[in-house]
Amino acid sequence: MTEYVKVEQADGVLTLTLARPDKKNALTNEMYGRLADALSAAESDAGSRVVVIRAEGDTFCAGNDIGEFAMAAMGSAGSEERHVVRFLRALAESSRPLVAAVNGRAVGVGTTMLLHCDFVLLGEDALLSTPFVNLALVPEAASSLLLPMRIGHARAFEMFALGEPVSAEQALAWGLANRVVASADLHAEADRIARLLAAKPAGALSATKRLMRAVDAIGRQMEVESAEFSRRLRSPEAREAFAAFMERRAPDFTQFDR
Ligand code: COA
Repeated sequence: MTEYVKVEQADGVLTLTLARPDKKNALTNEMYGRLADALSAAESDAGSRVVVIRAEGDTFCAGNDIGEFAMAAMGSAGSEERHVVRFLRALAESSRPLVAAVNGRAVGVGTTMLLHCDFVLLGEDALLSTPFVNLALVPEAASSLLLPMRIGHARAFEMFALGEPVSAEQALAWGLANRVVASADLHAEADRIARLLAAKPAGALSATKRLMRAVDAIGRQMEVESAEFSRRLRSPEAREAFAAFMERRAPDFTQFDR
């Protein structure tokens, strides 16, 4: 079976690489599961002092696999565990410093996962977007709390409601990232930062991270979002959004009211 998430470890750094480039690294349930397992295992692995999340291909992550969204919307998603919940929890609760290296588009969870990363590097070509409303959905990963907190209500509402991409420069200016680097240097620079962090006292580093993040409030927000998300996923407007994506046409939402 193709490995859509590569897991490698060297010199105290665990590197998780999204590797489904032909589908723009859209995340499937199985990929969430692998990411969740790797993040959880890193908690008790002394060889994983820092975690890097990065991607192969021209796109960091096109968000959740829309085919799987559509199956969930039709109630035919199967009975397997929804690993996305485990992944988001593991991300939020990770005590390891998380470094992200973002090239190209980061859509939906591709952007919201960055709000849980401690050091975000953007390639010059990075474009961040959170088009949940365009898919008739609502924000997840506690981004309805964390994004307005980070960039202010006005900008966050615009990102959620219009869903338009924000450039690397703009994202840096808004405090969504630590730095923008030449795309060709992105992975090497992320590795350099990760190794710097891996050499720091791990106890002090994870305690600092814990003090900076209200993990309980983040967990509660995820629960509230998740309940609303599930309701939205089954709505007629969401079914129209997924069908439009599959059929490569513009959706028509004017036929629905709340
Ligand atoms: N889920 C499932 N498949 C996806 C996907 C997703 N989220 N994003 C892209 N793909 C697939 C496309 O269906 C296409 O598959 P095909 O080659 O079998 O037809 C392939 O990846 C390439 O995508 P394409 O749209 O042709 O690439 P692009 O470079 O023109 O555009 C994106 C890239 C990311 C801008 C565009 O694919 C996109 O907008 N994807 C949806 C993003 C989204 O709304 N995610 C959910 C957020 S909540």
